[in-house]
Amino acid sequence: MKITLSSAGLKDWDGSVLIIGLFEEAHEKQIQSFGLPYKSYLIHRLKEQKFRAKSGEIQAFDLPENTPSKLILVGLGESKSLLINDLRNAAALSARASIGTIGKLGIFFPWELFDPESAAQAVGEAIRLSLFKDLRFKSKPEPLLKTNCIELIGVNKSAEACLGKISPICAGVELARELVGAPPNNVTPSTLAETAALISKEYGLQSTVLEKEDCEAKGMGAYLAVAQGSDLEPKFIHLIYKAKGPIKRRIAMVGKGLTFDSGGYNLKVGAAQIDLMKFDMGGSAAVIGAARAIAELKPENLEAHFIVASCENMINGSAIHPGDIVEASNGKTIEINNTDAEGRLTLADALVYASELEPDAIVDLATLTGACVIALGDEIAGLWTENEQLATELINAAKASGEGIWRMPMQATYKEGLKSMLADMKNTGPRAGGSITAGLFLKEFVKESIPWAHIDIAGTVWTDKDRGIDPAGATGYGVRTLVNWTYEQLKH
Ligand code: BES
Ligand code: MG
Ligand code: ZN
Repeated sequence: MKITLSSAGLKDWDGSVLIIGLFEEAHEKQIQSFGLPYKSYLIHRLKEQKFRAKSGEIQAFDLPENTPSKLILVGLGESKSLLINDLRNAAALSARASIGTIGKLGIFFPWELFDPESAAQAVGEAIRLSLFKDLRFKSKPEPLLKTNCIELIGVNKSAEACLGKISPICAGVELARELVGAPPNNVTPSTLAETAALISKEYGLQSTVLEKEDCEAKGMGAYLAVAQGSDLEPKFIHLIYKAKGPIKRRIAMVGKGLTFDSGGYNLKVGAAQIDLMKFDMGGSAAVIGAARAIAELKPENLEAHFIVASCENMINGSAIHPGDIVEASNGKTIEINNTDAEGRLTLADALVYASELEPDAIVDLATLTGACVIALGDEIAGLWTENEQLATELINAAKASGEGIWRMPMQATYKEGLKSMLADMKNTGPRAGGSITAGLFLKEFVKESIPWAHIDIAGTVWTDKDRGIDPAGATGYGVRTLVNWTYEQLKH
């Protein structure tokens, strides 16, 4: 999808679909001011439809024989409360309404109210990502009839520079969506590792995959315990991006990579939607998607590590029993009182591995707990960190990307809940505050001197219905936040 700037006036613009954002307080005046030949007709029809340009309102007009042949008017609400995220949502809504029409799509928004680069990037991403559709598994795919060429009309020329970022970032998000959306017989630990190797080759990353024996040699007893109930081999994936020239910042991103989570002997039953547990590798998808984007964007002064301890949580004769005690690669022993709390076991060894690289910061993303979904719903991820600077960076990065995030407490006293009579700790505590004890568990495996943050994306990895810029299904949550975060840190 090609995205460019256009300096044409609205009445001279020569594409097929024109989207115009309108303010609640002044939409009639605005329409008058554009000088469109059919403005009286529009105003009449909008009155008829009781259109008030409230946020989320939309009216589409077919104008056969005209240029453009389709006009989409979208409400932006009141100008004084307008945020960039409102532009994203309005762009996505309008882009969806444009489906069925091919040819050039133009969009005219009040760019001047924002930093033009941020507004243009946000809207460009929103249009491309809201028109994403996964057709890989249809025997007779029917592609969306959609535009392949977008012009942002009336944006200040200074925004030109940001347009180059849109494609790599969106490709990263789309890769993450495809990885998460694929069924668990398609994305397995092996194919996940193959995909990682493929993007490494294509974009020049270093890529290593540790096999089961390598992980055994490193003493990754927690991770391998989860993997032992599956017929599929675990794959521990490590990708490295290294900028040419001096390195000023070294970071590590760790993603939970359970390609299927049955729960193990604590089998997921009842309300738990077991068929959706293909999305339990959403953390790894975000990390690999971010790797794909960063590798193409090539930020200077950065060394970034992307780490995924991938496996399945299944049941067979060698699967872990509830009650088993295992030893992680930092020597700590864990009583597995619940086999369904498997993600933290895999992350334990991944975080020890990341800590050994001595990076300046570690961020992990994981579909870790149902408790986080109960607390924050499916639009907001939970953020745990004891490092103020890292918290600020990640919150800013998420805000800039339009991804929801909320900082949660790392309540040290809740560690009590993880006490084990036999081992150093249990892997689960009480139901109440379950996403907090999960975070406290992970903390045991991160070197204390390294700033670390944990992001629980159990809710945000998936949406049941079209929502904002996300079509129903896998959202690709985290890619944009991670990419923005890398740039955020390079600022200081
Ligand atoms: N993958 C799940 C978490 C999850 C649940 C993600 C629902 C998305 C939606 C994780 O492995 C899990 O099963 N966690 C348990 C932990 C519990 C046993 C302490 C949970 O949340 O129920
Ligand atoms: Mg589980
Ligand atoms: Zn899981």
